[in-house]
Amino acid sequence: MNIVILAAGTGKRMRSALPKVLHPLAGRPLLSHVLEVARTLNPTRLVVVVGHGADQVQKAVGAPDVQFAVQEQQLGTGHAVLQALPLLDPTVSTLILYGDVPLTRASTLKRLADTAGQRYGVLTVTLDDPTGYGRIVRDAMGRVQRIVEQKDANADQQKITEINTGIVITPTSQLREWLASLKNDNVQGEFYLTDVVERALEAGVDVVTSQPDEEWETLGVNSKQQLAELERIHQGNVAEALLVAGVTLLDPARIDVRGTLTCGRDVSIDVNCVFEGAVTLADNVTIGPNCVIRDASIGAGTRVDAFTHIEGGTTGANVVLGPYARLRPGAVLGDEAHVGNFVEVKNAVLGRGSKANHLSYIGDSDVGARVNIGAGTITCNYDGANKLRTVIEDDVFVGSDTQLVAPVRVARGTTIAAGTTVWKDIVEENQLVMNEKTQISKSGYVRPVKKKA
Ligand code: UD1
Ligand code: CA
Repeated sequence: MNIVILAAGTGKRMRSALPKVLHPLAGRPLLSHVLEVARTLNPTRLVVVVGHGADQVQKAVGAPDVQFAVQEQQLGTGHAVLQALPLLDPTVSTLILYGDVPLTRASTLKRLADTAGQRYGVLTVTLDDPTGYGRIVRDAMGRVQRIVEQKDANADQQKITEINTGIVITPTSQLREWLASLKNDNVQGEFYLTDVVERALEAGVDVVTSQPDEEWETLGVNSKQQLAELERIHQGNVAEALLVAGVTLLDPARIDVRGTLTCGRDVSIDVNCVFEGAVTLADNVTIGPNCVIRDASIGAGTRVDAFTHIEGGTTGANVVLGPYARLRPGAVLGDEAHVGNFVEVKNAVLGRGSKANHLSYIGDSDVGARVNIGAGTITCNYDGANKLRTVIEDDVFVGSDTQLVAPVRVARGTTIAAGTTVWKDIVEENQLVMNEKTQISKSGYVRPVKKKA
């Protein structure tokens, strides 16, 4: 099938400079969600109709499998589809989706396509309050006759509760003729796609309907309120899927996944965690409250304590991270490593069982196994122009408040005394290293007192 996604509208009620379909839901543009579900249907052609912010939209979602049709003026949904027509394969049906309706499931769209076959299919739902939507007008036999817009509907028609979701599938060969014959003699002065229903019937093409599994699949975004509402629905669905997969969520209403979160068995996630990008949590991982974890792979049995922030990194098994730890891209922690509070690790490898438990910066470093990094240790990795590497071999003990001025290498088994500045390579193994410093004591010292004004 062809798929056309309408995305030319302004989105005035978003009150934003950003085109409506680029507003993020779960961290990605609304339109990306629609493209994702569209792709699962393997369309022969995938066309997005753009108008407002066309350049921005094309830049944001452009891909080799997507073609764009520009609708200069928004003269109605029928007019929008007409712009896409030259790009479509006339021998297969065309499914029409909306760039601002992000949560429709593939199963619902497949059912619509299967129900319709070569006929004209409309996805409809029955709402307690149908206000604002186009109504499905049926004859005494229950056959669809037409769709009438809210603004054009008479009092009887306004009582109809079955509405047009907007999503339709249509034979393509006659579509040009049908769209070209549309008139805009309606209250809104627009060329309505909904009027194609009557054209199809006149041409002897049956019009059939199917329904989505869930009402929220057809909800669109016109305002920030609706965007927030859909975000919650989406996050609720993600949480539900995690629970079904056996993940423990201490509160399914307090987790946000903006990307893909893949979990092993017996994973537990405490409240208010945000997962971004691609995150994998292996078996028996425990995530404490208020963690932000992006693009990371966390090894089995690892414990990530509260307020830990990961912007890219990999941990082995049984690592302990946090509370208040920070991993940045290129952080690789070996099995049983510990990275504690206010420790930042960037582009650095920490070997098996190595520990940096308090207040340290480990950047551009290769740290071996069983290394103990004392509180307040800093790798001075930047000379103002270049990033330089620090190498700390196995079984080194780094005393508190040590500075390692890169590039520098510390041989296996070295013990560095507290408060040492290491700026020369330590080549011989198992030495004690310290700086020459003298401790001076002066007797009878009098502290300054605050001067009176
Ligand atoms: C449309 C349907 C209505 C249905 C409702 C469901 C028509 C005439 N009416 O009404 O029956 O109940 O959706 O939400 O189709 N767009 C363009 N170019 C245009 C006009 C619209 O790309 O010239 C896009 C908009 O960006 C939007 C979508 O099409 O994403 C729907 O357009 P909108 O004007 O909001 O239609 P509704 O009045 O909601
Ligand atoms: Ca609308």
